[in-house]
Amino acid sequence: MIAISLTVNGETVETSVDARMSLADFLRERLHLTGTHIGCEHGVCGACTVHLDGVSARSCITLAAACDGRDVKTIEGFEADPLMDAIRVEFSREHALQCGYCTSGMLMTSHDLVTRFPGLDEADIRREMSGNICRCTGYQGIVRALRNIYAANSKVG
Ligand code: FES
Ligand code: FES
Repeated sequence: MIAISLTVNGETVETSVDARMSLADFLRERLHLTGTHIGCEHGVCGACTVHLDGVSARSCITLAAACDGRDVKTIEGFEADPLMDAIRVEFSREHALQCGYCTSGMLMTSHDLVTRFPGLDEADIRREMSGNICRCTGYQGIVRALRNIYAANSKVG
């Protein structure tokens, strides 16, 4: 077991973990933060996306032990976040989800994109979101939702 101290959604967590435990399993099984979903477990589908030190990361291929001293944020940490609220509204308006399995990962990646990369056009959005796979929607609604967010932000800016 390895002792770790990290911040999860603003709370300090001090514990010990098996050296091989993934961050995804740690969040879901130890902290009961089940909004982070697990799909492929191979770093391909993006369902498990969280923010690590403010940047999107795949929690299925990140070791919990490697998160000592890091800042982790999951979808549960965005309950009072105006940008995430706006992204959720657009996902709903544009029917950007069906079963919802991919959605928390989509929202986490979307928030990261809008925060760090202003002014993306549709081609950019499609490229940047290509690491998040959805088995249901055909992606059109997801792209429309993000285009709406970028359009609204450009009016504000
Ligand atoms: S479950 Fe992590 S990328 Fe698919
Ligand atoms: S809404 Fe079902 S996997 Fe994306």
